Amino acid sequence: MDIEKIREDFPQLRHNFIYFDSGATALKPIPVLQAVRDYYDKYSTNIGRGIYKTSHKATVAYEKSHHKVLEFFQGDGEVIFTKNCTEAINIVAHGIDWKPQDKIIATYLEHNSNLLPWFRLKKFGVVVELLKCDPEGNIDLNELKQRIDNHTRLVAITHASNVIGTILPVAEITEISHKKGAMVLIDGAQGAPHLEIKLNEIDCDFYAVSGHKMMGPTGTGILFFKKKYFDELNPLNLGGGTVSDVYTDSYKLVKNWERFEGGTPNIAGGIGLGAAVDYLNAIGMSEIRKHEIELTAYFMDQLRKIDGVRIHGKMEPEKRTGVVSFRIKDIPSHRIAIIADEVGNVAIRSGLHCAFLMTRDILKEEQGTARASFYIYNTKDEIDHFVEIIKKIAKDE
Ligand code: ALA
Repeated sequence: MDIEKIREDFPQLRHNFIYFDSGATALKPIPVLQAVRDYYDKYSTNIGRGIYKTSHKATVAYEKSHHKVLEFFQGDGEVIFTKNCTEAINIVAHGIDWKPQDKIIATYLEHNSNLLPWFRLKKFGVVVELLKCDPEGNIDLNELKQRIDNHTRLVAITHASNVIGTILPVAEITEISHKKGAMVLIDGAQGAPHLEIKLNEIDCDFYAVSGHKMMGPTGTGILFFKKKYFDELNPLNLGGGTVSDVYTDSYKLVKNWERFEGGTPNIAGGIGLGAAVDYLNAIGMSEIRKHEIELTAYFMDQLRKIDGVRIHGKMEPEKRTGVVSFRIKDIPSHRIAIIADEVGNVAIRSGLHCAFLMTRDILKEEQGTARASFYIYNTKDEIDHFVEIIKKIAKDE
């Protein structure tokens, strides 16, 4: 695989910019920018409404993106587009008719987006329980088994930690939960962009994705769900496009994804997301994974040699995504990020990573961690450059 050639597809990388924050959002390749531009240049119209040719073209392109995404995730179900992964999870939280005493189990590993929507349901009498994990991000599957009781309706769990990259055994978790009658929602924000996802094998009920973290435009996300939830899930927004008929005091919902995407959607974004899927497919998810494991191993090997650096999470790179959280002595994580940016034009994330429980309570890093997250466009040379900065910080600060 020719990484230098791939890098040419990312205009931002032409300006001596080292981007190690793909866990927050990925850079966008030219074909994605082009697809968005083409839509605005050539057929920028609304979808599903106009009967003229140009509107039809936009409708077909937007719809085709849904098919591409469904195929990409290899799931027998429905795909709807959302504005991000957070919205996808909130659609499920708002869309199910919860009853008092229903129980939801989540974990300490979760991003706030896979916690707060469930916490809010407490006011309806829903009980939310959190499963602890160890500092490597392992959860005890026997404990999960024991915690799922007759009231448990949902297990909500991340596919991979956004703080330490640990990949969770989501198929096994789903099997355990299903055996005990609970639905499963997987937060795929950090899994989908980096792993080959076969939803038919994972068998989860809901899979939420951040489109912009898999090279789609910002303002894009995805919710996959099994067909059986199509009628059970109440759409978040009702209005234009969601109905096939309206009476004086009621309405009839349409029978496709439009039911869940009320109002004019992010058409350009959705079309761009389809182009992102084409781009990832052309490289191949297994190639992406291979490259990320190589970079992660390389980075962790270098970090281990520097006095005063502590790396969090599993030491085996194949058990994590390309996300590496670390601290240098007790230097505040934001200071590390500022120096990396100022001195080396290296962009990393720092702080609690919207995963307060994991970072503060499990890793015991009240001041957060510095986090480098890699993607297919990163190189070992970039890592070398960053490692020199880390060495300097460890020595001087
Ligand atoms: N959830 C994203 C991250 O972890 C924004 O950086």
